[in-house]
Amino acid sequence: MHAVGLTHYLPISDERALQDFDLPQPELRDHDLLVRVHAVSVNPVDTKVRGSQGEVETPPRVLGWDAAGEVVALGPAARGFAVGDRVYYAGDLTRPGSNSELHAVDARIAAKMPQTLDFAAAAALPLTALTAWEALFDRMGVSSEGADAGKTILIVGGAGGVGSIAIQLAKRLARLHVIATASRSETRAWVTGLGADAIIDHRAPLDEALNAVTGRAAVDYVLCLNSTAQHWPAMCRVIAPQGTIASIVELKEPVDLTPLMAKSARFAWELMFTRSMFQTPDMAEQGVILARVAELVDAGVLRGTLTRTLSPISAASMREAHALVEQGRMIGKLVVAGWPEG
Ligand SMILES: NC(=O)c1ccc[n+]([C@@H]2O[C@H](COP(=O)([O-])OP(=O)(O)OC[C@H]3O[C@@H](n4cnc5c(N)ncnc54)[C@H](OP(=O)(O)O)[C@@H]3O)[C@@H](O)[C@H]2O)c1
Repeated sequence: MHAVGLTHYLPISDERALQDFDLPQPELRDHDLLVRVHAVSVNPVDTKVRGSQGEVETPPRVLGWDAAGEVVALGPAARGFAVGDRVYYAGDLTRPGSNSELHAVDARIAAKMPQTLDFAAAAALPLTALTAWEALFDRMGVSSEGADAGKTILIVGGAGGVGSIAIQLAKRLARLHVIATASRSETRAWVTGLGADAIIDHRAPLDEALNAVTGRAAVDYVLCLNSTAQHWPAMCRVIAPQGTIASIVELKEPVDLTPLMAKSARFAWELMFTRSMFQTPDMAEQGVILARVAELVDAGVLRGTLTRTLSPISAASMREAHALVEQGRMIGKLVVAGWPEG
């Protein structure tokens, strides 16, 4: 089968950074679905994994986590799916990735994709939707039923992949007052369209920008989707007493938690891969969340976040996609769809 992968971890400007390979089809584990992949999205995690290691991979390592495709076979313990189902999922960081014609994924972390979306639009959603959902509802404890309606959230990095779905979940499900950050006219327009109530510029200290634009000194929740260390001091200043800050972006340097103590404020991490990586007893919750997201998309409550599609899935288009994502200026999501003829 055709796959795009790497043998060496190289800068994306190097032609060998991602290459086309002919690889054997994956072997299924008991809970797996075998999926014929039709579209994949590229996330910052793809570029971080590609850029992070020194070893040589033999056989080649296939990257890619978000995917949408069709079930072609099932392991003996896979439940809830049949051959022919159109599914979407964000996969498992510890297994071969989705940039391959056929891909094995644990059925418990997959779901039937929204019926109103094509494969490309569906592939744009799973990783970012799971991250945003888990951060808001599982880690920060925001009510997905609206019990926290009217409370205020600051979403740092509103126009990116995760921000684009987090704004919608915070606004439409939780009914929070959403303040999102964006630094350019294009990203400001995008977050406004997604439903943000106010926009501040993340190039200024967040507390100063918040106060200047909204007149507020504090918010009940801060969801940090970019540059945690850069924003840390200001996030500590704007979080309300007994409020919650969550981040999805690793720290490269330590930060001081002490400023949160006087306010009894909480800090929580979200990593979308935790459930699959540790096979937690509740890992099937990811399938449940994706099924719920599909329902919400089909009901018109959530809208898709796809903004750009490259085609077909090949080393060349995947290198282009990585280069675009690495610039850190994405609006919504970038997808690579379809396989070369022949
Ligand atoms: N923990 C997890 O499970 C998890 C899951 C998904 C992603 N992540 C991580 O979360 C981060 C965001 O992912 P993503 O897919 O949303 O990325 P993305 O789509 O590449 O984000 C691009 C956006 O980031 C904004 N941005 C750039 N610099 C910023 C800054 N200094 N402060 C605030 N916003 C800034 C840009 O807005 P402007 O153009 O307006 O400046 C742009 O719209 C990445 O580091 C990714 O690895 C973690």
